[in-house]
Amino acid sequence: MAGSIRTLAVQYFQLVDPPQLALPPGNVLVEPAVQQALYEHMFDETLTPLPPTTYRTRVLKQILARIEESITDPEEDEILDTLMDSWGNLVIQPKPSALQQAQQLSHIKYTAPLQSTPITERTITILESRGLILSGGTTGNRTWEAALHLGSFLASPAGEALVHGKRVIELGAGTGFLSLFCARHLGVKGIVATDREPFLIENMRECARLNKTDGDLPFYPAVWNWGTALEQTPEMGSMTEGEKLEFDVALGADLIYDTDLVPLLISTVHDLFSNYGVRLFIIAATLRNEDTFRTFLTACEDNDLTVEVLPFESTPAEEQTGFFHSTSIPIRTYKISRA
Ligand SMILES: C[S@@+](CC[C@H](N)C(=O)[O-])C[C@H]1O[C@@H](n2cnc3c(N)ncnc32)[C@H](O)[C@@H]1O
Repeated sequence: MAGSIRTLAVQYFQLVDPPQLALPPGNVLVEPAVQQALYEHMFDETLTPLPPTTYRTRVLKQILARIEESITDPEEDEILDTLMDSWGNLVIQPKPSALQQAQQLSHIKYTAPLQSTPITERTITILESRGLILSGGTTGNRTWEAALHLGSFLASPAGEALVHGKRVIELGAGTGFLSLFCARHLGVKGIVATDREPFLIENMRECARLNKTDGDLPFYPAVWNWGTALEQTPEMGSMTEGEKLEFDVALGADLIYDTDLVPLLISTVHDLFSNYGVRLFIIAATLRNEDTFRTFLTACEDNDLTVEVLPFESTPAEEQTGFFHSTSIPIRTYKISRA
């Protein structure tokens, strides 16, 4: 698949907002071979998981408009029947209301940024409500930019080296995106994906079924409310030392959005270092509010935790090749260890 079609298809299955899609120029889209590739890789109804009808309709409408604008000779240039048939099928589908769309759980296929090795695509499918910012008392119904940023770092050789073969725990995992990526593609020994919301844990179990490979994924979702004891389940057997749960690395993305959360998060990190064997906490933060983040950094210093910024910058949005996310608000990744 040509690079520009690959980028567009990967963005499409990640349900990137249509105005942000990297549509090839009209003189490329008008080519019959390109239109056929678009059909085969994006609109063929046998592809799974297909994006919601409303989304597919919006994207195809944009593509068809661009092709039409570029038709200079109607005798020579045309829109392929396969794409027109797809359009015909889409427009007759019933459309959910804006509220239904916001609440709808969609299958979102995330593809990791390209690396020189491996050259195969690394994808995971997550069930999430993209439109829900806060619902059921949690912000964990959708995958946030900091998780996509941290996922991009972990997909790089330097990032993978930090988790490969390790026992990992994720805090506030939300949709489970990061943990599933680690379990499916980064060779972790095991990963416990935690969140305080039981319905998010159930959703992660469903996502594990969606991403099942030949063997069982070393992915163990578990309810954990910071400040309480983490309950061990039989499936976490590979993460125990004697009778005790032990981890090497902890992960967290977008956990510091309110200063009120900082003391509890800090004491939880302390608990992980003191009682669960963790030696490294890798956390990605979207710097929406400098004061909130400074409160966290100061609390780390006051608690003898060493904070190091990882030299991993966000790839500008137009150069991203996977785990597409906005970089309009800076995102930083930190390594926290015990001083
Ligand atoms: C902004 S979301 C981030 C979700 C995910 N890490 C991501 O970046 O896509 C914050 C997550 O932290 C979880 N959370 C907040 N406070 C928590 C607590 N006290 N104990 C456990 N999880 C908590 C929320 O339920 C939510 O899923």
